[in-house]
Amino acid sequence: MSTIAPRSDAPARLEIDDGIAVIRLDQPGKPVNVLSESMSDAMREILERLEAEGDAVRAAVIVSGKPGIWVAGADIDDFTRLRGAADGERMVRTGQELLGRLERLRFPVVAGIDGVALGGGLELALACSYRLASDSPRTKLGLPEVQLGILPGAGGTQRLPRLIGVRAALDLMLTGKQLDARRARKLGLVDEIAPAATFERVARRVAAELADGSRMPRAARPKGSPQWIENVPGMRQIIFRKAREGVMEKTRGLYPAPLKILDVVEKGLDRPLAEGLDLEARAFGELSVSSEARALVHLFFATTAAKRSPASGDEREIRQAAVVGAGFMGASIAAITAESGIPTRMKDVSLEGAGRGLKTARDLLTRRARRRRRPKHETAQLLDRVQATTEYVGFRHVDLVIEAVFEDLELKRRVIREVEEATGPEAILGSNTSTIPITRLAESATRPEQVIGLHFFSPVEKMPLLEIITTDRTASWVTATCHAYGKRIGKTPIVVSDSPGFYANRILTPYMNEAALLLQEGVAIEEIDRALTAWGMAVGPITLYDEVGIDVAQKAGGIMRDELGDRLPVNRVVDRMVDDGRLGRKNGRGFYTYAGGEKKGPDASVYALIGAPQRRSLPPREIQERLTMMMVNEAVRTLEEGVIHSGADGDVGAVLGLGFAPFRGGPFWFIDQNGAATIVARLRFLQARFGDRFQPASLLVERSESGERFTDEHGRAPTAG
Ligand code: COA
Repeated sequence: MSTIAPRSDAPARLEIDDGIAVIRLDQPGKPVNVLSESMSDAMREILERLEAEGDAVRAAVIVSGKPGIWVAGADIDDFTRLRGAADGERMVRTGQELLGRLERLRFPVVAGIDGVALGGGLELALACSYRLASDSPRTKLGLPEVQLGILPGAGGTQRLPRLIGVRAALDLMLTGKQLDARRARKLGLVDEIAPAATFERVARRVAAELADGSRMPRAARPKGSPQWIENVPGMRQIIFRKAREGVMEKTRGLYPAPLKILDVVEKGLDRPLAEGLDLEARAFGELSVSSEARALVHLFFATTAAKRSPASGDEREIRQAAVVGAGFMGASIAAITAESGIPTRMKDVSLEGAGRGLKTARDLLTRRARRRRRPKHETAQLLDRVQATTEYVGFRHVDLVIEAVFEDLELKRRVIREVEEATGPEAILGSNTSTIPITRLAESATRPEQVIGLHFFSPVEKMPLLEIITTDRTASWVTATCHAYGKRIGKTPIVVSDSPGFYANRILTPYMNEAALLLQEGVAIEEIDRALTAWGMAVGPITLYDEVGIDVAQKAGGIMRDELGDRLPVNRVVDRMVDDGRLGRKNGRGFYTYAGGEKKGPDASVYALIGAPQRRSLPPREIQERLTMMMVNEAVRTLEEGVIHSGADGDVGAVLGLGFAPFRGGPFWFIDQNGAATIVARLRFLQARFGDRFQPASLLVERSESGERFTDEHGRAPTAG
């Protein structure tokens, strides 16, 4: 075999052996392969070579030199350099042209996908004549562009629907979901699955068989296409109408990318490929420089930065974990910990409590295993990994204990003392408190440097954020170990310093309080919720009261009031609701009515309860501004005080923990996009009308004068606060 081109340090290299060309992708110095400029250059050189080879090459295979990664898509870094739509358009036209040349090679090309094939990676595979995927669990196929506010720009919007049908293609492109090899094969996206252990050998054999005609791609086989139904007259219009309705319902029209995807797919379907590609390139150009895409790209980099270890190399392995308190939260934490491969025991005071917790955890694991179509024996192993007890048996060898008992300082302190006695000297003690300062908990510990806050969000299995709270005494190996644990259980961790409410609840409280003040002023429940969801929040604040529990919000508000003082004026709404026994969804009585567990309309009897304020209607903008400015201003104070360590962390925390509008990039990106001076001016205006709680944070004023940003303009690196 000989390596022919290009240079030995090129990101793609070509070897030809017995008429089979192997194109090996391996970007030097990078953890993943991306379709960067240097990759395009190397591919161009290889294509030229292959076009010139004559009959010496019978077939080609594209493989990756990186374990677990085939191609992770376009280089997202490149998006930050685009200055106008024309730049974006030009960028994807280059990619389209290269893939077109690949598609037109005279011989079959096999995409040998062992690892992730995302975005441009999958588009590269779509331009090949055959897709062979490995059975490795790391092999995943998807088009996540929509999550970055853009669309697949290297032919994906055109080739995918032609290959697997409109409905399946739209589902992939509009959600950005990733498929494993088995599901991809079912859809016809993958022709065949091969064992990872002998993958490259099989890939070469497949290529040779395609060349001599003893094998055919699935799409070319007689029963290749099950999409005939989509060609029934009128069917397509129905599919697109339904998809558009679905998008509008989900995004409220706030995200341009999914609508553009629908447009480009629909228009391109009946035209020649070249025309479809042209539409795609133009749409990509427009989207690539939209404010939504820029915010989402910023969030991608902010999330990546949050995932970097705070003290690399310091982390220790967690081989066993335990959870104390087998309530709903504790049981869910135990379940996802076990799911990540860590045997976990739960302890509760009573046998009933332990039994109930075990059932909750196992039910959750079973549901998730079913959804992921795990084989039975794997599910059984998973369930065995969670145990429940009423004593501290087996705690001696546990590396991490998470307490999730009732929110009571004395109770938690007692639990910490008991856990310290039951565990070995190196065990970490994490507290899942949402209101009690970790410093207060560490005070009573004999190993305070091993006490840390691990604040989960409910529902634990769905919410992607883990807030890690350190005190002045927390050891760096403890923080690093918990950070690695957070990533292992699939969360994005942000590390914050101890302070009342930590970060997420601290900025949420004044926002929620403002909503209660509006109710008190006579604004209707649904008017407030509607205004904030229209602004892009995942749920409205009044609905959120019901979801988290009005009693829980009352308690958190009380604690935060000590800290925030006049910034959190007392509202009578929450107290009266709780006095009336309205706890929210959990007891079926809140600001909204519930029937059979389903949320119904707003409960009109609430108004009398809160003092029958005279009804008044406000423009949505005013409602939005009062609430969001309270949150954004408080976020700046947390940075000023060193609670969070960067604006990027603050953005990740708000978006992933609180459902802050992703297309606005988080509070800090939002400030930077509008300009700190504009935000200060708005706050001063609100301050004059409604009082000093709107007084701009000093750091905000400072930045409005200096012009310094809170986040990197290109979204790349977090700025330390
Ligand atoms: N462009 C630029 N950088 C990328 C990238 C891309 N498409 N995909 C990954 N990276 C970078 C990450 O930013 C990270 O950088 P760092 O080393 O500076 O921290 C590094 O590669 C490793 O990524 P990470 O996410 O930590 O590794 P992982 O093994 O957990 O996950 C992926 C790998 C590919 C699954 C994940 O990175 C991913 O989903 N990437 C985005 C894919 C995507 O959206 N592609 C479509 C682009 S249009």
